[in-house]
Amino acid sequence: MTEQTNSSAIDQLLSERIKSTPPSFVRSILKVAVDPEIISFAGGLPNPVSFPQEELLTSMERIVKTYGDKVFQYSVTAGIPELRRLLAQRYSQRYGVNLTEENILITTGSQQALDLISKVLLNDNDGIIVEKPSYLGALQAFSQYHPTFYPVNLTKDGLDLNQLEEALTHENIKFVYAIPDFQNPTGLTYSAENRKKVGEILQKHNIVLVEDDPYGDLRFRGERLPYIGLGKHPNSIVLGTFSKTVTPGMRIGFIVSENKELLKNISISKEASDLHTNVFSQYLIYDYLSNNDVDAHINDIKNLYEDQAQAMLNAMAEYFPDTVSYTKPDGGMFIWATLPEGVSALELFPKALEKKVAFVPGDPFYVNQKNVNTMRLNYTNADSTTIKEGIRRLGELLKEL
Ligand SMILES: Cc1ncc(COP(=O)(O)O)c(C=O)c1O
Repeated sequence: MTEQTNSSAIDQLLSERIKSTPPSFVRSILKVAVDPEIISFAGGLPNPVSFPQEELLTSMERIVKTYGDKVFQYSVTAGIPELRRLLAQRYSQRYGVNLTEENILITTGSQQALDLISKVLLNDNDGIIVEKPSYLGALQAFSQYHPTFYPVNLTKDGLDLNQLEEALTHENIKFVYAIPDFQNPTGLTYSAENRKKVGEILQKHNIVLVEDDPYGDLRFRGERLPYIGLGKHPNSIVLGTFSKTVTPGMRIGFIVSENKELLKNISISKEASDLHTNVFSQYLIYDYLSNNDVDAHINDIKNLYEDQAQAMLNAMAEYFPDTVSYTKPDGGMFIWATLPEGVSALELFPKALEKKVAFVPGDPFYVNQKNVNTMRLNYTNADSTTIKEGIRRLGELLKEL
């Protein structure tokens, strides 16, 4: 059989679910990121110098000696109690809530949480309110369950409140998906005032609020702000992860919720999906957190990323034409640039690759929008000198427009 007939034969067997899932832009981005010739601002990769390799090696030995066969055995779906207790304590102290291990579910990265939440809440055509633009991996995960998306503009202060109220008039809304701190892709953060107002609006509705928070720990300017929902909204879910503060390869994320009924259902769905998250990784993270000053470690990462963000902003001020505007994040990993009206960042992408520099064109961060004039730039995975050179090349291209 030829390759073509092979693929059309398999096409007839594929589910509507997979056919309607957009192909992974992330995967092609990561492919670009591994070409050593290219300066890549495309991926969302943490800087590998931030991985605490020595400490993790010590923890690896220690967990095998301390816990023996437990680190290699099947375990409970919700995650190992030691890690869940530690997280419950950390979140209770930090946010003035009263959590126990029953309020924590360990997931295989927060990406899995996005999938499980959709699986548990969505029937075909149910509504999700998302930021416009939103995290492409979330849009991809949600798409598998055939939702109707209601995008709400993200402004420099947070969600557009009028649009939020308007979106909530639709009857079938199941959840709001928000990234209030150093949003992916824009780097924007909701103000305290906006969080309060969003919270007040949502109180009037029986829907779930998902606050995805992979970057909150990486604040290099200003004060930490409260969650919109935790401790206030009965159907609040907060997603956390160790991907940006320890290592992403371990795939340890977690769900925090005061709603145990909701957590129970997510846990059933997780059991059906993978039984439980990698036990070795869970013990490893637990031991690492228990035996090291993780806040000092996070401080080092913040200092590193602050310098890298500043290097990118300085280079943008020097090399980008005035017609390009961009965000100035207080933390996280991304800057969002807006090109002149009518310029397609997607069309610019191959030209940038010719100059050996990469970014993510804005398209995959929107629901059904093509050839938008926005792009995402990641500053965490290159040193300041490389960042300057990459932005210089991009600036050259933008000036040619
Ligand atoms: C907003 C957001 N949510 C979730 C994820 C997935 O993170 P994890 O590695 O924990 O699966 C990412 C990764 O970049 C992200 O930016």
